[in-house]
Amino acid sequence: MMRTPCICSFLFGFFLIFSSIAAQLDYVSNANLSSTWTNNESSIPSSNSPDGSRIRIILSVKYRFACGFFCNGTCTSFLFAILFNTNDHVILWSANRDNPVRESAILNFTAAGELVLQDVDGSTVWTTNTTEKSVAFMNLTDKGNLMLFDNTKSMVWQSFDHPTDCLLPGQKLFQGQKLIPSVSSTNWTAQKDSYSLQLTHEGLFAYVGSNPPQVYFPSFGIDIDMINSYFKFFNGSLSFVDSMQYSLQYVKLMPDGHLKGFTVPDSVWADFLTGDLGECSYPLTCGRNSICSAERQCTCPGIDSFRAVNDRKPNMGCFPVTPLTCNATHDQHFIELTNIAYINNIADMEDVDIEICKQACLKKCSCKAAVFEYGSNTTSGRCYLLSELFTMPSVEAGVLPYNILTHIKVQNVTSSSMNVTSSSSSRNLVATVLGYTIGSFVLLIVVVGFIMFAVRKEKTNSEMEEEHLDQVPGMPIRFSYEQLKTATQNFSKKLGEGGFASVFKGTLEDGLQIAVKHLQGDVYVHVKKSFMAEVESIGSIHHVNLVQLKGFSAWKSERLLVYEFMSNGSLDQWIYYSGGDHQKHLLGWECRKKIILDIAKGLAYLHEERSQKIIHLDIKPQNILLDSNFNAKVSDFGLSKLIDRNQSRQVMTTMRGTFGYMAPEWLSSVITEKVDVYSFGIVLLEILCGRKNLDRSQPEESWHLLGVFQRCWEQGTLLDIVDRYSEDMQLHATEVTEMMKVVSWCLQTDFTRRPSMSTVIKVLEGVISVESNLDYNFSCPRLQETTFEHDKSSKPACDSILSGPR
Ligand SMILES: *[C@@H]1O[C@H](CO)[C@@H](O)[C@H](O)[C@H]1NC(C)=O
Ligand SMILES: *[C@@H]1O[C@H](CO)[C@@H](O)[C@H](O)[C@H]1NC(C)=O
Ligand SMILES: *[C@@H]1O[C@H](CO)[C@@H](O)[C@H](O)[C@H]1NC(C)=O
Ligand SMILES: *[C@@H]1O[C@H](CO)[C@@H](O)[C@H](O)[C@H]1NC(C)=O
Ligand SMILES: *[C@@H]1O[C@H](CO)[C@@H](O)[C@H](O)[C@H]1NC(C)=O
Ligand SMILES: *[C@@H]1O[C@H](CO)[C@@H](O)[C@H](O)[C@H]1NC(C)=O
Ligand SMILES: *[C@@H]1O[C@H](CO)[C@@H](O)[C@H](O)[C@H]1NC(C)=O
Ligand SMILES: *[C@@H]1O[C@H](CO)[C@@H](O)[C@H](O)[C@H]1NC(C)=O
Ligand SMILES: *[C@@H]1O[C@H](CO)[C@@H](O)[C@H](O)[C@H]1NC(C)=O
Ligand SMILES: *[C@@H]1O[C@H](CO)[C@@H](O)[C@H](O)[C@H]1NC(C)=O
Ligand SMILES: *[C@@H]1O[C@H](CO)[C@@H](O)[C@H](O)[C@H]1NC(C)=O
Ligand SMILES: *[C@@H]1O[C@H](CO)[C@@H](O)[C@H](O)[C@H]1NC(C)=O
Repeated sequence: MMRTPCICSFLFGFFLIFSSIAAQLDYVSNANLSSTWTNNESSIPSSNSPDGSRIRIILSVKYRFACGFFCNGTCTSFLFAILFNTNDHVILWSANRDNPVRESAILNFTAAGELVLQDVDGSTVWTTNTTEKSVAFMNLTDKGNLMLFDNTKSMVWQSFDHPTDCLLPGQKLFQGQKLIPSVSSTNWTAQKDSYSLQLTHEGLFAYVGSNPPQVYFPSFGIDIDMINSYFKFFNGSLSFVDSMQYSLQYVKLMPDGHLKGFTVPDSVWADFLTGDLGECSYPLTCGRNSICSAERQCTCPGIDSFRAVNDRKPNMGCFPVTPLTCNATHDQHFIELTNIAYINNIADMEDVDIEICKQACLKKCSCKAAVFEYGSNTTSGRCYLLSELFTMPSVEAGVLPYNILTHIKVQNVTSSSMNVTSSSSSRNLVATVLGYTIGSFVLLIVVVGFIMFAVRKEKTNSEMEEEHLDQVPGMPIRFSYEQLKTATQNFSKKLGEGGFASVFKGTLEDGLQIAVKHLQGDVYVHVKKSFMAEVESIGSIHHVNLVQLKGFSAWKSERLLVYEFMSNGSLDQWIYYSGGDHQKHLLGWECRKKIILDIAKGLAYLHEERSQKIIHLDIKPQNILLDSNFNAKVSDFGLSKLIDRNQSRQVMTTMRGTFGYMAPEWLSSVITEKVDVYSFGIVLLEILCGRKNLDRSQPEESWHLLGVFQRCWEQGTLLDIVDRYSEDMQLHATEVTEMMKVVSWCLQTDFTRRPSMSTVIKVLEGVISVESNLDYNFSCPRLQETTFEHDKSSKPACDSILSGPR
């Protein structure tokens, strides 16, 4: 009696050893012509997954991918699929998701060079259709691509060219190809007439419906790179960056229309479109004919015209009380809704007025709503006629750069139904009133109960989401607002304040000191959509001379960024003489030299060493921070991206930066990374001279450092402007004036003549010398020093002071 368990465990142990040996030996990634595999247990033993799914592996790549017959649950139907060869089976591709095969189906790699899937009854379910292409062998690559090759090892067919709902690193989505999600997470059949993601010559689009398809995520050309830096749009194809740094393993279009990035096996790492769209813009967040407002509140438009499909589940959508009938169009009218951001990508009519738009909808039987989009002129706008009406995202007034009036077509209540209502109501008035009273009381309780339930559920959901984000190493951590409030002792220790934000000191629970930047004002309103994506992309930037973004918080309208704390504060506190005792804190020459090199390295990294160039746009001493060892780090890089993501699709429609540090081309031409080189030149000059660019405590003719610099250059008296308050600087005055050549080079009015930051580094390290033949007519300084944002299309206010004091 006692021995039985021992024997069992012995046998079980033996079985484990045996099966692991078998598994280790079994990594065959190639197959030759005339191979067949039968989908039965004696032909191919299954490997089971803890979640109940099974796979009979045909080809596999060690620790990575497997392809074979896959099933789940009762295992009456099978897919020929490529999956992750891990405990959890994630289907990355399948040949026959719409036509599953049964036990004993056959995969035949025929002598003619075709891979054919036949069901047990002999019917051909799927084929690569490659008989005419002289195929020689088949390989499952270590990227998860099933490929057929010819004798010369050139590719004839590959699964990467036939995507289902996933993209793998290295796989490209070409124009005309689609990702189509499966019906649900357990039914892999492709959705019919619902979501798809497609690349067109205009960009990347997510569609819903089929009659005709409506766009719910439009991204035009350049914008694709801006979804976030993980996707690349190149030569007419889309791929996501193949980088282990992100540990991003695959991207999948989900059954609910979300595009998510995963780390193996199945933890969500990014929700790509949501940052730009918001939940309400997904077409079925609230079901059909329904309005979705900020907190995913679903309501029906027009209480008399639409009812909830299910009162307890408002996200199931709404239905019209009286269905539209095409033969009674004269009995139709419109409900008008404002502040609904619902548009398709292609307008049905352009440059029309609103009445024409509505009439066109009335005349068109299939039209369910007329959406009119206009600027300031209501007589000229775009008209969209929708044949299907999905969830309508409601937005706050004024958020959109244009106006939208949504007109929903409804059928007038017919006279027959009117009759019924009026007679019954007069007869049973008392009963009705009583019924309504009790009914509404019950309803009230139900509604209150539901709201409480929903709120609690919502809370758990968002907590779960935060945990997900927490788990990814190297990525910014999402903090709750409360956490940061506690860490900063209710935002009590202010470190500084700028045009767009205040910075507070804080300490995390683990003792780590942080600087919390609280973004302020409307500037970020339209950024709301893309905040997460941008934060993630900024957070992925690591360099010793850049202040690391550690985390963020986005809660309601609060936007906070969490940075590493830099104990010596910003550079401006260390280079300007401010009178009194401060003198002894001024930095010496070696230290300043190191700081200059650090800044240059940080900028060079942003400009030149990343796949996507980042222009800082606001280089000034306040944005250079010093750690306890006076290592300098550039801060606030990428913030321009946060501010810049505006409604219009132009990248640079607004000027930004700080007067005094801004390059002259801001007023005219293209903005390149050379604007940072210019600002760097000014900062460099300030470091060398130990004074502010604009200093009204000086005699009037010396207010502007740039003017003084130019004058001294002309008169050959550069020694005069070397920081007078630092003895050490005076001792090295000759070296300092030597470095002023770098300043002149960086300040060239013609931005093409300024050096790149990597060239600056070479000069600082003495590898090359400053170009001769420079233009010493530096651009005139401007009067005020304020951070500003100015619409470039209107004439800059400082035009008149362009030839200001010298
Ligand atoms: C395929 O054929 C080649 C040579 O014809 C042989 O070396 C290889 O072992 C074969 N592969 C398999 C899996 O049978
Ligand atoms: C499984 O398939 C193999 C090869 O076709 C065949 O020989 C065997 O009889 C099948 N086994 C069962 C149980 O059907
Ligand atoms: C298999 O089915 C179970 C139960 O329905 C489910 O939890 C699991 O996720 C499924 N596995 C896969 C790989 O889809
Ligand atoms: C595989 O296909 C070849 C050519 O079509 C055929 O001759 C062979 O019988 C097939 N094998 C099986 C097991 O069906
Ligand atoms: C296979 O190719 C032929 C001719 O190239 C084409 O007519 C047929 O539709 C293709 N079949 C499939 C399943 O792609
Ligand atoms: C097949 O793929 C494996 C990796 O999956 C690779 O190591 C091997 O070189 C490939 N074989 C051929 C012939 O391309
Ligand atoms: C999967 O979904 C399709 C389409 O909705 C349906 O026809 C099919 O019966 C479903 N399969 C299962 C196993 O539920
Ligand atoms: C761009 O795509 C075309 C057609 O697919 C191809 O011929 C060309 O080589 C590609 N160019 C680059 C730079 O990849
Ligand atoms: C409109 O057509 C429907 C069916 O096509 C019919 O049931 C209905 O009576 C018609 N209504 C009128 C007003 O003609
Ligand atoms: C339909 O209803 C609207 C609003 O109730 C009304 O203004 C309109 O006159 C009605 N049309 C007809 C033909 O009854
Ligand atoms: C509005 O647009 C129409 C048509 O383009 C034009 O005739 C009209 O002058 C515009 N009105 C205003 C106020 O701009
Ligand atoms: C509705 O009531 C009107 C007058 O009250 C009457 O003429 C008409 O026949 C009624 N219609 C029906 C379907 O009962």
